[in-house]
Amino acid sequence: MTDRNRAARRLEGVGSTIFAEMSALAVRTGSVNLGQGFPDLSGPDTVVEVAYDAMRAGRNQYPPGRGTPELVDAVIRHQQRHYGLDLTSDNVVVTTGATEAIAAALLGLVDPGDEVVVWEPYYDSYRAMIQFAGGVRRPVTLRAPDYRFDVADLEAAVTDRTKLLLLNTPHNPTGHVFDRDELEAVADVARRHDLVVVTDEVYEHLTFDDHAHVPVATLPGMFERTVTISSSGKTFSFTGWKIGWVSGPPDLVAAVEGAKNWLSYSSGAPFQPAIAHALDHEGAFHEGLRKDLQHKRDYLCDALDSVGLDVHVPQGTYFVTTDVSALGHADGKAFCAVTAERARVVAIPNQVFYEDGSAEGRHLIRWAFCKEQDVLEEGIRRLRAADLRA
Ligand SMILES: Cc1ncc(COP(=O)(O)O)c(C=O)c1O
Repeated sequence: MTDRNRAARRLEGVGSTIFAEMSALAVRTGSVNLGQGFPDLSGPDTVVEVAYDAMRAGRNQYPPGRGTPELVDAVIRHQQRHYGLDLTSDNVVVTTGATEAIAAALLGLVDPGDEVVVWEPYYDSYRAMIQFAGGVRRPVTLRAPDYRFDVADLEAAVTDRTKLLLLNTPHNPTGHVFDRDELEAVADVARRHDLVVVTDEVYEHLTFDDHAHVPVATLPGMFERTVTISSSGKTFSFTGWKIGWVSGPPDLVAAVEGAKNWLSYSSGAPFQPAIAHALDHEGAFHEGLRKDLQHKRDYLCDALDSVGLDVHVPQGTYFVTTDVSALGHADGKAFCAVTAERARVVAIPNQVFYEDGSAEGRHLIRWAFCKEQDVLEEGIRRLRAADLRA
C-alpha cells in the first residue's frame, strides 16, 4: 500500500455523492430515508412487460448510439404533443439517464477555462462535470423562501468567457418552477451574449397547483441555442433503468453525442422500447403521480411545520426544503446527524448544493416525499417523538 493519493485531481471535492453518504447513514442507523430521491414504487406494469418482451425477443445487444429508433420517435412525439416542438431524429440522442446527458453536454460543449453560469443550489453532478470539463462555475443564487433569482445577479455572472448557462427547472433541491418571466430573462441574456443553454428538465411532469413547466427551448430564438435534457426516471418511476435523452439543434446534439460515444456509447437495450411505450401510452401514469405527490407534499409540509421547522413549499419536483434555524440549529449537516441519531430519520443538508463557503444554504434541509404514505407518516411520528432542538 502507498500513502500517495493516487486519485486524479479532477476528483478533488467531488469524490462521493451526498446521496450515497446519507443513504449509508440511513442504513447504519436504521432510519427512515427521506434523503435520496427515489420512489418507493415502480412505474407501470405494462411498461415492465414491454421490457420483458424485449429481453425475450433477444433485444439484449448494443442499441444504436443515437438510441433505439422507437424511443427516438417517441421522444419526438412527446416534445410535439406537450410543447409544440417539431423535431426530427437529428434533434434527439438517447443517454444513460439524465446523468450521462449532463456529463456529455458539459464534456462536449465546455473547453478548459470556459465559464458556466449555474443556479445554486445545484444538483451535485453539475459541479463534478463542470470540473471534469475544466470549466469554471459562476453561481447565481436562488434565494429562500421563494427561490426566484435576481436578474442583476445573472447579468453580473456573465463575462466574455461565459460559454454556457446551466439551468434546471423544475428545480432540485428547491422545488422552484421557473416562470415565463424568469425564463425570458435567461433567454434575453443567452441571446445577447450568444450563449448555449443546457437545461435539465427531468421533473418536467411533476409540477403542482397552477405551476406549469415551460421549456426554455420554446421561447423565441431559443431552440437553436438550447440543449434540453430529460429522463424516464422521475416521470415514470424507473430511476434504476437510467434511460434519458437530449434534444436540441443538430450541431449541439452532435456535440453531446460526440462525448457520449466515449462514455457509455449506448445502454439499456430492452428498456428503450419499454420507455418508448411509456412515453406514447402512459401519460396517465405521470398525471396520477403528480396528483399523488401533490397530496404528499401537502401532508409533509404541514407535518414538518408542526415539528417546528420553517417550510418552503415547493412548486414542483418531489422535494421540500425546510429552514432548521427555528429549532436553534445553524448547521444543516449537524441537524441531519441529530435527526438520524435521535429520531432515526435521514434528510439531505442543502449546503452541499451551494458553492463552498456560501452561507445561503447552511441552515436548509431537503426532504423527499416520493415515498409511500405510511413511510412518510412513520418518519413524522419519529420526528415528533424526538427532541430535535440544538
Ligand atoms: C435535477 C436532476 N437531474 C438529473 C438527475 C439524474 O437523472 P437520471 O437518474 O435520469 O440520471 C436527477 C436525479 O435525482 C436530478 O434530480
